Amino acid sequence: MATAILGMQWGDEGKGKITHLLAREADMVVRYNGGPNAGHTVIDRGEKFGIHLLPMGCFYRDARCVLASGMVIDIPILREEYGLIANHLKWEPEIVIAENAHVILPYHRLLEELEGGGARIGTTRRGIGPAYRDKVARVGIRADDLLYPVRLRKKLAQKISILKRAWPGSPELSSLSTDLLAKDLLASAEPFLGSIRNAIPIIAQALNRGENVLFEGAQGALLDLDFGTYPFVTSSSTTFAGLGNAIGIPLPQIDCRVGVMKAYTTRVGRGPFPTRITDKLGDFLQQAGNEFGVTTGRPRDCGWLDLVALKYAVALNDPTTLAITKLDVLSGLDEIRMCGAYQLEGRETNTFSGSAEQLALCEPIYESISGWKEDIRGVTDYESLPRAARAYIERISQELQAPIGIVSTGPSPEETINISFDRY
Ligand code: GDP
Ligand code: IMO
Ligand code: MG
Repeated sequence: MATAILGMQWGDEGKGKITHLLAREADMVVRYNGGPNAGHTVIDRGEKFGIHLLPMGCFYRDARCVLASGMVIDIPILREEYGLIANHLKWEPEIVIAENAHVILPYHRLLEELEGGGARIGTTRRGIGPAYRDKVARVGIRADDLLYPVRLRKKLAQKISILKRAWPGSPELSSLSTDLLAKDLLASAEPFLGSIRNAIPIIAQALNRGENVLFEGAQGALLDLDFGTYPFVTSSSTTFAGLGNAIGIPLPQIDCRVGVMKAYTTRVGRGPFPTRITDKLGDFLQQAGNEFGVTTGRPRDCGWLDLVALKYAVALNDPTTLAITKLDVLSGLDEIRMCGAYQLEGRETNTFSGSAEQLALCEPIYESISGWKEDIRGVTDYESLPRAARAYIERISQELQAPIGIVSTGPSPEETINISFDRY
């Protein structure tokens, strides 16, 4: 049984909580895209963690974890995270790092600052764009380079000489030293050198044996490099189409695709957001939903559910089931709005545009439905939800033509309704 977890909005949908829940039953959990730009929150044995790189299987002794080749890995961040989790668990999780995954180096973060990516796109400033760019430009450092220090130094020297020529005015880049970079990198990578392997046969074998394999996606469909709201996107493929390429298995047999979506919409960083709420209600959702970035601490903008965008994400991810999170955050509202279409240049449209310029011109057309007053935090039984909350869930399922498998009513694993009904 293979399951993929996919974000359906602009990230931060609650993938961490849902993956951590599903990983209980997993033999293997594979994180396949992005890097430390991701921040996946889990509450494990009562303690809260914001995980950037490790697959959620790390919390379970029986689950093997793979950091697949679609990722860009910052080794010092991995080391810190691994130490934190091993200390929490009192045992060391088993991890495999794909030999062809790329490594983020300090100059990637420097470049992001020099080029203004942080300000222009509102990136997480983790060097993600420059690291993926080096991969495409064929000047990246890959995990297996760490196993061969002479080769590593040669590649670093080549890259540093390119940087020094391109940025003669930057004191930080001009003072880069191959020896120092290699020394620091190898020192922090030391505990992981035995984990750097060809991950393709490891994943393929687990799939062929019919093991329970979970593919943990990072970010969300609307941040996809090709299909998201370009240029306000991340630099990797965040949709189901990218999964095969990111693990090196073409068209993997994935039985279940779980589309994770919030009961409303949030976005962090820059870029158009048609259903953004600009008045006090937006602040209410931000506070009630604790909408502050795990990676950067930035406040997330909040808005109503956008069915136009979600239908686009459904087309991109083809979810077999949906997990709706943070339903509890909407409690207490008299009315809830959903956007079913946009007004664009005097006409109504149902088409989501991945062009940021076009999307910025779209005005949401809302439909209002009844809210509910009851506090539903922690409800575990679908029938105990207020009628209006059930109507909201069922309407979403109907609009998106996908069954709802999970409704989340709080950040903890036990605050969850498992439904698996198909009422659409
Ligand atoms: P991810 O990046 O998709 O894993 O999501 P994040 O962890 O960045 O953001 C989701 C936030 O919502 C975290 O603070 C979670 O602890 C929290 N969360 C997840 N599910 C629920 C829920 O059902 N209700 C509430 N109130 N919070 C939730
Ligand atoms: P998870 O996995 C929310 C956003 C950044 C920025 C854009 C590009 O926690 O859902 P990058 O640093 O990737 O070059 O930034 O993408 N972004 C995310 N937003 N959740 C994430 O991950 C994100 N990863 C990147 O805020 O707008
Ligand atoms: Mg997040």
